[in-house]
Amino acid sequence: MATNESHDLELLLRSHIPLIAVETQEEQRVREMFQRLIPRLGRPLFQWSITDGVRRLDIEGPANKGTEDPGEFLRHVRDSQQAGIYLLADFHPYVTDPVNVRLLKEIAQTYAQTPRTLALISHRFEHPPELRKFFARYEPALPGRDDLYKIVNDEALEWARGNGGKRVRTDRASLDRLVQNLSGLTAWDARRLARSAIQRDGAITESDLPEVMAAKHQLLDRSGALSFTYDTAKFSDVGGLNRLRAWLERRRRAFVEPDPHLDPPKGLLLVGVQGGGKSLAAKAVAGLWGLPLLGLDMGTLYNKYYGESERNLREALRAAEVMAPCVLWIDEIEKAMSQSDNDGGVSQRMLGTVLTWMAENSKRVFIVATANAIERLPPELVRKGRMDEIFFVDLPSPAVRRDIFEIHLRKRDIEPEQFDLQQLAEASEGFSGAEIEQAVVAALYLAREQEQPLATEHVLTEIRETRPLSTVMREPLERLRAWARDRTVPAD
Ligand SMILES: Nc1ncnc2c1ncn2[C@@H]1O[C@H](COP(=O)(O)OP(=O)(O)OP(=O)(O)O)[C@@H](O)[C@H]1O
Ligand SMILES: [Mg+2]
Repeated sequence: MATNESHDLELLLRSHIPLIAVETQEEQRVREMFQRLIPRLGRPLFQWSITDGVRRLDIEGPANKGTEDPGEFLRHVRDSQQAGIYLLADFHPYVTDPVNVRLLKEIAQTYAQTPRTLALISHRFEHPPELRKFFARYEPALPGRDDLYKIVNDEALEWARGNGGKRVRTDRASLDRLVQNLSGLTAWDARRLARSAIQRDGAITESDLPEVMAAKHQLLDRSGALSFTYDTAKFSDVGGLNRLRAWLERRRRAFVEPDPHLDPPKGLLLVGVQGGGKSLAAKAVAGLWGLPLLGLDMGTLYNKYYGESERNLREALRAAEVMAPCVLWIDEIEKAMSQSDNDGGVSQRMLGTVLTWMAENSKRVFIVATANAIERLPPELVRKGRMDEIFFVDLPSPAVRRDIFEIHLRKRDIEPEQFDLQQLAEASEGFSGAEIEQAVVAALYLAREQEQPLATEHVLTEIRETRPLSTVMREPLERLRAWARDRTVPAD
């Protein structure tokens, strides 16, 4: 890894670019890369920080007093006639100052006379538009598979040394899974997670993975738009949706153990009535395939600064790629995609970003998007070929309602055999799954109030008191069904 990556950096430093933005969490490692290159470049290396000001790095030098102030430091560089490479640690907060922007520009403009390269090393960096033409970005490469094996191995040896030569217990499969889960992290973070996995019990086993995944997710998701769940729903918690279930079972292998001759499935869209179990089904996809579930909250991606929203989105999608294989759940996608008509085209570009990413994404990230308002669903999203399939989740049939009653009674440790499920299913014509669950919950309260064990009659009473969705939403429901008829396949 190191050779290629320092080769790229060397090319960049030789190519007369005055300003380099290095986005990294590994300042120390980047500094060492520069230090290794310096003898070949024959230019002095300096470092600046707000605490010490500027000092020379390639030969031990004292800090230059009075250069702690960012503006003073830039003036010092501008006025010095010496060529050099400057590493600016965490300079990003000061780049917003117009005086500093001007000074950076003046240093950059005189590169031909005095070659001075300023490398701004920060965890995150946005350059001001005035400086765009002077900037290049450099991203240090992340450790590859071999590097990660080495890191895990080093940590295992380290643990053994501290434990009287006892060896770390593991097996090939768990080790491979651990390394797979560490990919996409910096060397420093990978080492830290490997160490904590080993230290817990002196072993690397499958049981370490959920914690590693959760920690990794926290490291990656800087925008906070992704939520991570390792515990997902089971399809046995879902009544009906049998076609969807069969469809998923057929594709499980192709996704979980990819075959180079088959395109892995990319994603599906669930459209349907409120409370029909779309969100529940999305969670069950991850459960069925045994993969972690990432929820993408489009709402939190929106940012008032130009370009930031898309950047957040790209970052979240990149984080999802790094978590692959996984299921990426985008709930109520229509809300995010059409926040308002006059948002300056942001939602349009967000949609474009998602669609392009879906088309190009070769990592195993399976998208499950849900929607219940078709009017606001962008046509680009439902066009044939975008999603592998669009499923329509309608109100449950009597047989499915029976199953849903059974599921929710069992969930509350009540034996369904004592109930007249047939009668409940018939009485709840037009109910959604959520309404059925609600009737069970309300009936439990009623029974408790009457100090009786829950019985069919309590549930029937609650059913009679509910005006179901099919009544309240008759017209929108009919529109939805008409829309779905020739665009979707039934989920059940
Ligand atoms: N088919 C079903 N089987 C079992 N439970 C269901 C079913 N449908 C709904 N429920 C129950 O109702 C709850 C709410 O359903 P869910 O949130 O999945 O519906 P939704 O289709 O996503 O609704 P919305 O459009 O309002 O987001 C579920 O958590 C579950 O407890
Ligand atoms: Mg939902």
